[in-house]
Amino acid sequence: MRLQENKIHTGDCEIVLKDYPDDFFDLIVTSPPYADSRKNTYGGIPPNEYVEWFLKKSEQFLRVLKPTGTFILNIKEKVEKGERHTYVLELILALRQQGWLWTEEFIWHKKNCHPGKWPNRFRDAWERCLQFNKNRQFNMYQESVMVPMGQWAATRLKKLGKNDVVRFDSQVGSGFGKNIANWVGRDKAYPSNVLHLATETGNRNHSAAFPNALPEWFIKLFTLEGDWVLDPFVGSGTTCIVAQELGRNSVGIDVLPEYTDMAAEQLQPDEALLFDGKGTYETRRKK
Ligand SMILES: C[S@@+](CC[C@H](N)C(=O)[O-])C[C@H]1O[C@@H](n2cnc3c(N)ncnc32)[C@H](O)[C@@H]1O
Repeated sequence: MRLQENKIHTGDCEIVLKDYPDDFFDLIVTSPPYADSRKNTYGGIPPNEYVEWFLKKSEQFLRVLKPTGTFILNIKEKVEKGERHTYVLELILALRQQGWLWTEEFIWHKKNCHPGKWPNRFRDAWERCLQFNKNRQFNMYQESVMVPMGQWAATRLKKLGKNDVVRFDSQVGSGFGKNIANWVGRDKAYPSNVLHLATETGNRNHSAAFPNALPEWFIKLFTLEGDWVLDPFVGSGTTCIVAQELGRNSVGIDVLPEYTDMAAEQLQPDEALLFDGKGTYETRRKK
């Protein structure tokens, strides 16, 4: 029998994380406050100060992440004076200077983004999910996020021409992934780096909550049961709630007690939800 732990701390993640040891977490998945957004709820950081603000926090993330771990950062640059601001691009460069590898970028396509009309652009239907790692070798469980092969297989794969079978082999060597013929008869394929997810937030009362499916996808891809997941800007607790459902241990941190209360309420303890009176909630479950 294993003990599953899920903790929620109230406080600034930069400070709370100082109590955690080096190389502790298998995955960090988070959506920080975007520059200058939601000033009235949890404060906005001016775009020009964003990188400096973030780097002090990511220094801790780098320290507490295992060498085999992954950091997923959901973020999107705002528009200022008619232009996309460059702070996300600057942040990527600065994180590389800090020691992170920028290994991949996933696009979260928001399938149901609300309709609207702007004079010089269309509605914004996607956000970045940037992937950073400490090393080129990191844990990744690709089979856990395979998708149904879908209808295209029925038509496209049935009509393979000679070129489909040999063309890619001759160009790229063994190329199992590129040789379409190798996929005949299979019912699952690896997904792309575009995630088509609706922005549903269940009944959580947070203005910028993740859909459950977003952290779920990354938790399945980068961790196993019993691994440790961190969301340092946990808001309404989505990452920790999903981590708990998937049998992972988790730590969530938020500066606002109304959010950590909300997050803790939704965790399912075996017995009681423990509260230390100083802003930390803890649940323990026997698995
Ligand atoms: C975009 S929201 C996260 C929403 C979350 N993904 C969810 O599903 O509810 C960002 C959160 O970061 C929190 N926050 C802002 N500054 C923080 C800090 N220094 N340390 C920890 N949390 C912080 C805010 O209170 C806010 O809830």
